Amino acid sequence: MSRVTIWPADRRITIHDLQAATDRGERWSMLTSYDTLTAGLFEQAGVRALLVGDTSAEMVLGYRDTLPVTMDHLIPMVQAVVRGTSKALVVADLPFGSYQAGPENAMANAVRHLKEGGAQAVKLEGGRRVLLQVEVLAGAGIPVMGHLGLTPQSVNVLGGVRRVQGRGDAGEELLADARALERAGAFAVVLESVPAELGRRVSAALRIPTVGIGAGPYCDAQIMVWQDMAGLTTGRIPRFVKRYADTRSALADAAALYVADVASQRYPDQAHSYT
Ligand code: KIV
Repeated sequence: MSRVTIWPADRRITIHDLQAATDRGERWSMLTSYDTLTAGLFEQAGVRALLVGDTSAEMVLGYRDTLPVTMDHLIPMVQAVVRGTSKALVVADLPFGSYQAGPENAMANAVRHLKEGGAQAVKLEGGRRVLLQVEVLAGAGIPVMGHLGLTPQSVNVLGGVRRVQGRGDAGEELLADARALERAGAFAVVLESVPAELGRRVSAALRIPTVGIGAGPYCDAQIMVWQDMAGLTTGRIPRFVKRYADTRSALADAAALYVADVASQRYPDQAHSYT
């Protein structure tokens, strides 16, 4: 059961506010956002942290996976989300190729997200294999969110992004990765597409918040890609996605009405014209 708590009304949420909420047993929400208008709207709805995710490759730029998105694509989106908000913590994704080469690579790009983008934190994928990067960033005062389980930047090794991760022995490996990330200084860990029981075990083992996406009900927080949550995406959707609106139909109907109005000269009418 979630308890009512007071979140800061006059400043941005920090990683300490998220940790405090988790310590109190309060469940909090994240959504992705890639633009000013949705960012402001989600913040008003009570979303505590926004992720400018590399899913923007698919959701905004039309790519088939997250691999092509670059720092130069993401930074204007991070800036837009920061401009549209004053409370939510803004987490910027480190895209494929921006941190894997080592701590220097990670530091240069994380610094860009904070300096140019205005983000308050960064996220990267992987466990023990990126530990050095996490240690160096956290040690330099850059809050780092980890990401385990289904890590879409490894799509070519995983053989697809629809596969549940962490079953059997792989669950023990994931737990060890999560513990290592916490020790290295990560402030939270995303768990994507793993069995609910593994989500429960990792959440119980860590003090820092776990942020679930297809990781069951026991995580400390949840995240969804907003277009999935709001019913804008098409095609086969993962089992964990719950549609909270039918934005696709609403937009399609609005566009069709507009087209019909223009064709029949009902728009623009007197009320929408200057005298
Ligand atoms: O980029 C993204 O949107 C993500 C979420 C799916 C967690 O990493």
